[in-house]
Amino acid sequence: MLIKNRPGWAIPESQATPESVFVNRRSFMAGGAGLIAGSALPQLAAAQGADPTLDLYPARKNTAYTLDRPVTDENLAANYNNYYEFGTSKDIVASSRRLVSRPWTITVDGMVEKPFEIGFDDLVRKLPLEERLYRFRCVEAWAMAVPWTGIPLKAFVDFAKPLSSAKYIRFETFLNPRIAPGQSQRWYPWPYTEGLTMAEAGNELPLLVTGIYGKPIPSQHGAPIRLITPWKYGFKSVKSITKISFVAERPKTFWEGLQASEYGFWANVNPKVPHPRWSQASEQVLGTRERQPTQLFNGYAEQVAGLYKGLEGEQLYL
Ligand code: MTE
Repeated sequence: MLIKNRPGWAIPESQATPESVFVNRRSFMAGGAGLIAGSALPQLAAAQGADPTLDLYPARKNTAYTLDRPVTDENLAANYNNYYEFGTSKDIVASSRRLVSRPWTITVDGMVEKPFEIGFDDLVRKLPLEERLYRFRCVEAWAMAVPWTGIPLKAFVDFAKPLSSAKYIRFETFLNPRIAPGQSQRWYPWPYTEGLTMAEAGNELPLLVTGIYGKPIPSQHGAPIRLITPWKYGFKSVKSITKISFVAERPKTFWEGLQASEYGFWANVNPKVPHPRWSQASEQVLGTRERQPTQLFNGYAEQVAGLYKGLEGEQLYL
């Protein structure tokens, strides 16, 4: 697999803008504008064309989640992406800038006390954000380690008030071939969908991610909100979520719809279960020349192994 090592100076433009606005915001405050009530900051940021959630970053660090390896260089992570809506290569940063992430509405429906729609900027201020360091493992056998900021999915589930009869949670991405050229390729089962069991959704690990490296998440990583499930292969981590549904039946996921024999519903990381076309025994760590041994559940067995008791008959690792 081709892994691009970009020079350190090749900072993508998408990263530069929020940074400079962030710095401006600090000097603005220091110059007396601190008299402006904190709640006016989002409007101020929006007026400057900046991300209206900038004031929420960096969020409180949850130090319970530690790494066994260095954090991946931000520029590497930001320039080696999978986002098929914007192209099948890893080089989709420019194309992904066409994503219009404001206004952004999330529909919550299915088996809930009351279905509702909520604007992303409202949601992100209703539930607590925290930063966690997580390992990330793609099914293609590359890996990274990054600081994600997000809302624990568990907290979102409580907020959504699902009925006790709900068995699964289904996530759906936007559908708009006018901005996402990949969605004109009719052989893919668009829109991108993913799913978890309610037990998985109630685990401590899944995050609804809104930020990365202490800043709002840029388009190529799935702005404005995506899922991260660090014990599963990366394709479960659906980007740019517009709809969250609580359902009784196991949802058919995007990759399952495309190639069920290679990409299943569970997709838990396991070094001993090869992908039908390659080994999963080791992983290429982005930014290094090293291969590391793959860990069962990507190193999160302590937190998640219990979820799969009694499910041994399922294809848990595909
Ligand atoms: N979500 C959407 N909507 N579209 C995609 O193509 N690719 C998945 C996942 N989420 C994908 C997606 C895959 S295969 C991976 S490995 C991760 O996003 C990559 O996340 P990153 O680009 O932020 O590293």
